[in-house]
Amino acid sequence: MAKKVQHGANLFDLQKKYGFKLEEIMDFSSNINPFGPDPESLQVLVDHIDMAKVYPDPAYVDLRQAISAYTGCAPDHIVLGAGTTDLLASYIGLVHPEKALLNSPCYSEYERELDKIGAQVFHYNLDKTRDFVFDVAEIIDLIQKNSIDLYVLTNPNNPTGSVLKVEDVEKILDQTEAHLLIDETYIEFTDKEKYTSTYLASQKDRLFVVRSTSKFFASPGIRLGYGILSEKEYLAKLTNELTLWGVNIYADLMGTHMFQNKAYQDQVYAHTEGERRRMTDRLSKLKSIKVYPSFGNFILVELLEDMDAKTLRDQLLPRKLVIRDCASFPNLSPFFFRFCILSKEENDLLLDGLEDLLD
Ligand SMILES: Cc1ncc(COP(=O)(O)O)c(C=O)c1O
Repeated sequence: MAKKVQHGANLFDLQKKYGFKLEEIMDFSSNINPFGPDPESLQVLVDHIDMAKVYPDPAYVDLRQAISAYTGCAPDHIVLGAGTTDLLASYIGLVHPEKALLNSPCYSEYERELDKIGAQVFHYNLDKTRDFVFDVAEIIDLIQKNSIDLYVLTNPNNPTGSVLKVEDVEKILDQTEAHLLIDETYIEFTDKEKYTSTYLASQKDRLFVVRSTSKFFASPGIRLGYGILSEKEYLAKLTNELTLWGVNIYADLMGTHMFQNKAYQDQVYAHTEGERRRMTDRLSKLKSIKVYPSFGNFILVELLEDMDAKTLRDQLLPRKLVIRDCASFPNLSPFFFRFCILSKEENDLLLDGLEDLLD
């Protein structure tokens, strides 16, 4: 049965409960890059604030062009939505699978959408004793044996950080008849050339790849996501399904510019890589926890002694440090927590806090 839906911390609640200022809270739970939105695109937004008085371009020509240059996919293979959440829901509704496969644990919204349409949900249990790695032969076997119509996955997976190579995605497509919905919300934090399936989606049927601007581009408030697919039938249906002017004018403006700022993108990537390594190395020295390898901008940790993740979270809160207790994820015990990579100074405060409480 689907567990209760729960996401990263509600900062507005914490602000009220603890009397913190919003900007003081170090939110390690929401997986948003700490640099904030790309300053150039933010400036464009400020300079065009009066655009509130016009409708966006319904064809979003400039935005599509910018995403096309960024991904290397043709503009007419790109669909736009108010966040990936919007696109995931539309695609699941259109494919309307009788049987769907999810990784366990995975991001909770997929199961919520599948429940809405009454799909039977199967789970591929990622095994902590194998560091939650994907085994492509096992996945293909599960899809074939259970006649799965749709496999929904996050790549890299939230919350485990495990990753599937593009060759493996191709194998699944070639050796099964299932549709694949790949959520690449975190792909830009890793070596995306090696792992992204956007190019494959512009070549092959039964594949839809969605990307977000919420995490890597630190812009969850503008609600901009995009998806790539080339299968004519679904491209037409999806384009039809999405709301006219469903992407607001500020998302259109910022999106058109943020994808062009390569220096910002390189900076975010390099920071994440370096801090992920540094934090993993330092935490791996603590005997009371196990740190799992991650390809995302977040790290999953298991507490090996008496303290559970909720207690740890509560003990870090007075220091204004907010981690994600992973008890709401299926296939994870109450001893797992996840944190994302913030600035070096904030990361040091978390590392110090964890060392104080756990060593
Ligand atoms: C895997 C995954 N996909 C999608 C989302 C939401 O993305 P968006 O803000 O683009 O709707 C999240 C948010 O936490 C997520 O973790």
